[in-house]
Amino acid sequence: MEYKLDKIMISREKIASRVREIAAEIVKDNGMNDELVIVGILTGAAVFLTDLVRELPEDMNVKIDFMSVASYGNDTKSSGVVRIYHDLKNSIEGKNVIVVEDIVDSGLTLSHLLKLLEGRHPSSLKVCVLLDKYSRRETEVKLDYCGFQVPDEFVVGYGLDYAGRWRHLKDIKTVVPVEAK
Ligand code: PRP
Repeated sequence: MEYKLDKIMISREKIASRVREIAAEIVKDNGMNDELVIVGILTGAAVFLTDLVRELPEDMNVKIDFMSVASYGNDTKSSGVVRIYHDLKNSIEGKNVIVVEDIVDSGLTLSHLLKLLEGRHPSSLKVCVLLDKYSRRETEVKLDYCGFQVPDEFVVGYGLDYAGRWRHLKDIKTVVPVEAK
């Protein structure tokens, strides 16, 4: 089915203000001195992460690393088995880590990923997601920082895609099917 962009669900202004609030929460919890490793899960989290880290104070000890994973399954349902396409560059052993995701849906990708990262013995492991589609949850995942709860609608923009498209939008928008001619 073909889709087209529809309404703005979350505006760029609302996103920017929530990103600043989340950054402030992170600073409060982590303090300025302990090294903090921000792990972005490609591709969706890239846009959110780059805005988030630039809201952290200059003298905070922040490192950035990325992982690229995909959940096995069909187009609409993930299986919870995660395949790593690109792993972290650096060890997270003994480090304070925050995993950054764009969206949590079933929770299967994140719960599998967290088990995998726990096995690498970080000092702490937290989760920061921009969007929480809780109505779709199949397994509980603790979200330490969460931007917005969203209804079960198809959303794109600000990192989120449909078939690889629309990640570059400044706002988060819904999509609707293009009427057959
Ligand atoms: C999205 C999102 C999460 C996962 C959430 O990634 O970034 O990793 O799906 O779904 P779940 O909670 O049902 O497991 P996607 O596989 O679409 O890859 P992308 O980040 O490259 O868009």
